[in-house]
Amino acid sequence: MSKTEPTERSPETPIQESAHIIGRSLRIQRIFRFVSKIAPTESSVLLTGESGTGKELLARSIHFQSHRSNRPFLAINCGALPENLLESELFGHVRGAFTGASLDKKGLFEQADGGTLFLDEVGDLALPSQVKLLRALQEGEVRRVGSNTSVRVDVRILSATNRNLRKAMETGEFREDLYYRLNVFQIEIPPLRERREDIPLLAGYFLQLIAGKMKKSLRGFSPDAELLLMRYSYPGNVRELENAIQRAVALAEGDVIRPEDLPPRMREIETKRLEGPKSATEIQDGLTLAEVEGIYIRRALERQGGNVSQAAKSLGISRSTLWRKMKKLGDL
Ligand SMILES: Nc1ncnc2c1ncn2[C@@H]1O[C@H](COP(=O)(O)OP(=O)(O)OP(=O)(O)O)[C@@H](O)[C@H]1O
Ligand SMILES: [Mg+2]
Repeated sequence: MSKTEPTERSPETPIQESAHIIGRSLRIQRIFRFVSKIAPTESSVLLTGESGTGKELLARSIHFQSHRSNRPFLAINCGALPENLLESELFGHVRGAFTGASLDKKGLFEQADGGTLFLDEVGDLALPSQVKLLRALQEGEVRRVGSNTSVRVDVRILSATNRNLRKAMETGEFREDLYYRLNVFQIEIPPLRERREDIPLLAGYFLQLIAGKMKKSLRGFSPDAELLLMRYSYPGNVRELENAIQRAVALAEGDVIRPEDLPPRMREIETKRLEGPKSATEIQDGLTLAEVEGIYIRRALERQGGNVSQAAKSLGISRSTLWRKMKKLGDL
């Protein structure tokens, strides 16, 4: 699923896509602020973070906030192609350069001229390709495979990796000079489990987006489903959350997503703790204060049909306090 949508634009600017990237956690907000400062510069940016944290989306967002936004944003996965094919992709080739090269072909550098080239999995580049990339960056020119003339190119480089490049540099697998060239600015995107405040925001966003596409009317999550979403660890990060919501929207029968609509691995951690006694008079002695609080919170959420703002109001606390407490419930 693509999270790009047309930007607001005046008629004379070319059609372009912007990257719709959202988050309210402090760490993501800090990244957004940083990006707004560095995006308009010409500097290269290295994006690191676990799989599915949003590296490519953030790269697009940098491009669309830069002066290059009306020029191409092109991406290549450096780990997906054998060395010689990768080089011909990046730099192009001339007719007859190798078997099968029946026509001259522009490489991505030339195609992205004036725009941005996103080198995904840059840590997977073989050493010889690293040398050629470095030369292209240093000289601002590329030479098509099989050609003996160079063409000037003006391309901004953004790159991403989920490998530890510093370590690869120490072991000699990654060139130091290239590392420093790619890494003028570095942005580390934290895993979703370290910024849980983003989970409800992202979940709600994906729900709307996907339900809209599937033409299903869903107004939210049941409190139990919301709790499961909040306490899951997301090894696959935002992508995993997005896929879970996609599945849930397809399976949902009523007007809310219920625990049974979520993937089994998210439900495995569902426990008796989610239940609790039915009425206040049933609350037994011997419970900790935190447990009593948990029961009240769950009940308030249930009564308000999962509406966190309403539940917070009925409990006499702010919405953000309730989110914090709901997050803690996951650890009870
Ligand atoms: N903050 C966010 N707001 C909205 N959507 C997001 C956000 N972060 C990630 N996504 C979505 O999650 C999915 C994974 O993001 P992306 O492909 O950018 O991750 P990645 O870090 O490049 O992953 P990988 O390392 O596996 O290539 C995409 O569909 C992306 O649109
Ligand atoms: Mg990626």
